[in-house]
Amino acid sequence: MDPRTFDYIYLKNHGASDEEISKELELSLEEIQLMQQTLRSVLREIEAERPQARTIGADFARLTSNVYAEKSDQELELVRPDAIKARSGEIFALPAVGKLDFGQISLQDAISQRRSLRKYSDEPLSQEELSFLLYCSSWARDFRSNERMEITFRNVPSAGSRHPIETFVDLRRVAGLKPGLYYYHPIKHCLILYDESPETQNKVFEGCFRQEMIQSSAANFIYTAVPYRTTWRYGQRGYRYLYIDAGHIGQNLSLAAEAVGSGACMIGAYLDEALNKVLKIDGTQEFVIYVAAVGKK
Ligand SMILES: Cc1cc2nc3c(=O)[nH]c(=O)nc-3n(C[C@H](O)[C@H](O)[C@H](O)COP(=O)(O)O)c2cc1C
Repeated sequence: MDPRTFDYIYLKNHGASDEEISKELELSLEEIQLMQQTLRSVLREIEAERPQARTIGADFARLTSNVYAEKSDQELELVRPDAIKARSGEIFALPAVGKLDFGQISLQDAISQRRSLRKYSDEPLSQEELSFLLYCSSWARDFRSNERMEITFRNVPSAGSRHPIETFVDLRRVAGLKPGLYYYHPIKHCLILYDESPETQNKVFEGCFRQEMIQSSAANFIYTAVPYRTTWRYGQRGYRYLYIDAGHIGQNLSLAAEAVGSGACMIGAYLDEALNKVLKIDGTQEFVIYVAAVGKK
């Protein structure tokens, strides 16, 4: 599929004319017509769902009230979900968390200095600094597993300690680590190389609507949600908690960035379909929920 497909759908649904789309996506009018034909059924589906899409926010808040709650899958004793998703690839160890010491900044200073930082210096992040950022936001200090329950405990809170958020890092400038997309293993505290092609990194940039900071950052953190980990316990109300959980991670990351002379910018403006595709996840059982760019001041 042409990588510009998602942009085309987005622009089309925003009411852009073919001429405007042609200019924005650098496509000829013939190419646009061809795209329109290929995507006819997709566009029709979006059109059919538009009335529901217009009110889904209010419906979501109303229908996930506890008054609608039924017995959850956990209460029904359905098989428990795993706490971590298994992913394979080349492994890169990170500096051990016990040896990290970035205590020079007070919590008050970190909180009061924090700003969304969108311009970064060329200085790379060190592996210790990357390790610290991951330790503060995603690391699992404890893991417990039995037949009825699998659970992690981390430096961020999570509803029922379900920790449904998984962490990918798109490394651009980290000393001694090759650029590429990695998965962070929260128990082993290591990186697993997921995709090292420069094209993939470019797709992350495109998927975030070409926001400049994605390209100039030292690392982009891409958080995905595995909803069943939480809905198994809380039913549909669990969807609320996914976003709340992601917020805690984002804030710990932002404050940790301050502690290592860096800044973060949280990113919610991305094209879901494009980023899910980059991460090779299906968008339903796992989907991108939050992104953050981090770089040195
Ligand atoms: C959920 C969320 C999504 C955001 N998405 C973007 C984004 O896509 N691009 C961007 O430049 N800033 C984004 N921001 C940063 C906000 O614009 C920023 O926090 C706000 O303007 C306040 O500025 P401050 O963070 O410096 O206090 C986002 C922030 C949050 C919390």
